[in-house]
Amino acid sequence: MNKITFEEVLSIQRKVNIVDVIKNYISLTPRGKNYFGVCPFHDDHNPSMSVSEEKQMYKCFVCGASGNVFNFVKEYEKIPYYAAVKKIADQIGVNFEYHEKKEFIDESEKKMYDIYDYASKYYQNNLNTNLGKEAKEYLNKRSIDEDIINTFGIGLSFDDDKLSNLLLKKYIENDLVDSGISIRSTNKVYDIFKNRIMFPLWDINGKVVGFSGRIYNNTSESKYINSKETKIFKKGSLLYNYHNAREYAIKEDNIIIVEGFMDVIRLYSIGVKNVVATMGTAITKEHVSLIKRLSNNVTLLFDGDSAGEKATNACISMMKDSNLNIKVVRLEEDLDPDDYILKKGKDKMLSHISHAKSLIDYKSDIYKSKLNFNDSNDLSKYLSLVKEDLEKMNDDTARMIEIDKISKETGISKDIIMSTIKVEKKEITKPVEIKKEIRLNKYEKASEFILFHMVKNSNVIQYYFNNLSYLPNELDIELASKIVLYYKKYKNFNLSDFISYLEDNNDLIKRVMYIDELKYSENYTLDEIDSYFNTIREYIKKEEIRKLQNKMKTETNEVVKRELAAKIIELKVKGED
Ligand code: CTP
Ligand code: MN
Repeated sequence: MNKITFEEVLSIQRKVNIVDVIKNYISLTPRGKNYFGVCPFHDDHNPSMSVSEEKQMYKCFVCGASGNVFNFVKEYEKIPYYAAVKKIADQIGVNFEYHEKKEFIDESEKKMYDIYDYASKYYQNNLNTNLGKEAKEYLNKRSIDEDIINTFGIGLSFDDDKLSNLLLKKYIENDLVDSGISIRSTNKVYDIFKNRIMFPLWDINGKVVGFSGRIYNNTSESKYINSKETKIFKKGSLLYNYHNAREYAIKEDNIIIVEGFMDVIRLYSIGVKNVVATMGTAITKEHVSLIKRLSNNVTLLFDGDSAGEKATNACISMMKDSNLNIKVVRLEEDLDPDDYILKKGKDKMLSHISHAKSLIDYKSDIYKSKLNFNDSNDLSKYLSLVKEDLEKMNDDTARMIEIDKISKETGISKDIIMSTIKVEKKEITKPVEIKKEIRLNKYEKASEFILFHMVKNSNVIQYYFNNLSYLPNELDIELASKIVLYYKKYKNFNLSDFISYLEDNNDLIKRVMYIDELKYSENYTLDEIDSYFNTIREYIKKEEIRKLQNKMKTETNEVVKRELAAKIIELKVKGED
């Protein structure tokens, strides 16, 4: 049992501001009365989630995700509702006992998380044993000290199958094979990772969901091997270090992307913490969504070699329609950020980052290296290439600065350059409220009206309870009943508190928030309410008739059949009064 009452939950909720809490997860921008950000509950690039400080609720216009501060934390962290309440309570120093309910998370997923949690502790421990000395030396030689080892949970796998054997005390072979920790061969399971430095890979909430293992004392064909993809580990939707970088990326309004996790680790060690890695895979749309939740400004800091250049360009084209402000750093001497910092020092790296090139500068440098400005054909080619980039820029001042630069480089006047470009006046991406044209029948309409007035006027709650207590749709009956119960218990009705009362019943929360936002007048007359009630009664009668007719179809006893027919007639006649 959770030793917390609804009133206590409410008092915790009143002590926090939903805006401050959500700001720890996604970047929010104020607009009008509300705040907007990129919804983390569906794949999106636009700020479709609004957070209302006044109502202490969030709502996504696109996917409909909605609720209060606890629902947000619960959904984002994928934890039980009361674990979310506890998390917030802890933050404000309120104590309550909470014991995780087992049934909540998908059992097979939970098993995998547990296996990875165990494995990561096991590997970390190995590194501190006598047998781990050589690996420690390797790490220290690479300037990875204790502090970094702990921060990034670095561990070691031995050349044996002990992990599988330990796990077999609690799990069956299939669990281990499914999770990607073990491999089956001739009816036995063996450890997959052998004799490698182990880097845990986390999901966006910081739970270990996989490993990358690096060789350190031999020359295997593959420098790194990674866990296979599972239910909880998908390379294309994971950015290394995302959960650690989140806070810094939001605060600094910038996120740095590198290729390898060693680069992340090294940058972290020089105090650059808003950094994530793609881990050698091409950037995906999902990665872009994850980034956009935190900031609109990205810095691409890929390896200095030609593969890094290719990856940079591929990333730029992947981000083309995302409206991200992209900056690019190109390192010299083919170095990756890790080597660069070790070889050239922290300050040179920091300077590179702070002088990252704007996308158009980066591109025009590439064009320039291939073109000759004394050749009028090349010059006009250059202009047409930059024209496209200039048109895409969404900051007018930055565009003018670029035009000025290009004019100086090429000797072409600013006016001429300007006259060639067409700038569409782009509105800053506003969340588009998706209004699905749903055609409601008269019964559905009546239900909405009734629920709307119940939410807005407590008198209607009592009136509904005394005179109708029924609605055609299951969800609506449940909602109306909950409203009645709530009102009877607390003697008032307030939407925000009521949502806390609904805990994590997402369907009801979505429905009641939808009802609350309907654009009807809050004024009503009892005659109006009565007429909606009558519509619902008509529905009830129709349903009764339908049921009797169905019964008649299967009824074989003539006497019963006649009785049914009489009942139907009676109902129909009453309806015509
Ligand atoms: N990678 C991988 N498998 C490989 C090589 C690389 O999965 N065989 C991934 C790793 O996630 C690595 C990233 O690609 O972090 C970048 O690769 P690379 O540049 O080769 O690794 P470094 O970060 O330079 O690693 P190290 O410095 O340890 O050699
Ligand atoms: Mn490297």
